[in-house]
Amino acid sequence: MHNLPNSASIKFDFYQLHKSFGLSILALTTLRLVWRLTHKTPPLPAAMPAWQKAAARGTHWAFYALLFVTPLVGWAIVSVSPKDIPTFWFGLFSVPHLPFFDGVIDRSAVEDVFEEGHEFLAFAILGLLALHVGAALKHGFINRDGVLRSMAPKFGALIGMLVIFGGLGVAVSHYLTAAPSATAQTAPVEPALIIEAEPEPVVLTEAPENVVGAEISPTEPSPAQIETTLAAPEKLMRWSVDYDASWLRFIGEENGRTFEGGFSDFSAEILFDPDRLSESKIRVKVQTATASTGDALRDATIPGKEWFDTKQYPSATFVSTDIRALGGNAYEANGALTIKDVSHNIVLPFTLNIEGEQAIATGTVDLLRTDFGLGVAESWLGDEGIALNVRVEFDIKAAREP
Ligand code: HEM
Repeated sequence: MHNLPNSASIKFDFYQLHKSFGLSILALTTLRLVWRLTHKTPPLPAAMPAWQKAAARGTHWAFYALLFVTPLVGWAIVSVSPKDIPTFWFGLFSVPHLPFFDGVIDRSAVEDVFEEGHEFLAFAILGLLALHVGAALKHGFINRDGVLRSMAPKFGALIGMLVIFGGLGVAVSHYLTAAPSATAQTAPVEPALIIEAEPEPVVLTEAPENVVGAEISPTEPSPAQIETTLAAPEKLMRWSVDYDASWLRFIGEENGRTFEGGFSDFSAEILFDPDRLSESKIRVKVQTATASTGDALRDATIPGKEWFDTKQYPSATFVSTDIRALGGNAYEANGALTIKDVSHNIVLPFTLNIEGEQAIATGTVDLLRTDFGLGVAESWLGDEGIALNVRVEFDIKAAREP
């Protein structure tokens, strides 16, 4: 699981199954601990030396402790990890991250410590298992003192095991048939949407200096300005968008495969007159939480802190600063794109066809996601995983307001 390349789609499923089994162990161990604390265990043979009794009891309690702490530390890994990958219990429901790590600054360092601990504890379970099985066999075949027989599950316990293993079997088969990553792998990709191997460079009129938390430059509008930008000059054409016939989508690449997604909620204010371009203005506001790509696992990751961080930054905006005609029906809008409070001036080329009172604007722009603080943790920056280039496409149908 750990050593598989990120490009292996099965890696994701292995991790999800690992976490699902581990969390099941945590739940079952918790039940078992409650049971153990409220019930008596069979007595150990009277002839057994005191040190062996102590060793046997010590092993049992060490088992309980390890089976409780190991999955808890595993859960801590995924909760503190800057990758912020969600956990779905056998694809049936999402398990929240543990809430204790909000204030952690160096998440990668803490993740590393938990990973080391998790591995150590897991191998300690194996060591203990060897000791436990060895001792049980010695009691059964050398001492022949009835201890092994007393360990054998009774009828009720056998039924319980059958129910638990049967239930886990059903859960695994549900995951395998409904595995969202598997579905995504087989989803057909429209050839027209495939991003070329060498994407065109992003047109940034500013150097993307410090990517995360970059300051909004003085030339860019402040949020207060954004709110007031679109006061219409005298009789400038105002267009109202037909959202049912318009779309805003993004196209990216994961593990070498193209995926596409869209925003179901965005609003655009358009003051546009081909003859009064210097006064024309466009403002778009996108509700980042409405991004979806049709892949449940990916979609559950997108709102997380590493990506859109939708709780902190529910919207992204584009506000034009000037619009130029390029000849024919081609235009370009310069303006500030703000995602997660990081603003950059971008150039948005688009074509515009106006027929009577109706207009259709279509455009495409390539962005470097890291310029806007999207997926900047080291784990998202490798050659594998999510490509840095994300293509944004829009198709806006609007009607001229009277
Ligand atoms: C008794 C239960 C568990 C056992 C015995 C166990 C065992 C292991 C083992 C042996 C590894 C491989 C370590 C390595 O070679 O790097 C591992 C990795 C991992 N486990 Fe668990 N695990 C358990 C529960 C969980 C749970 C409940 C979660 C999360 C909800 C979890 C999350 C992880 C993660 C994220 C890794 C990968 C760490 C890395 O990439 O280095 N585990 N686990």
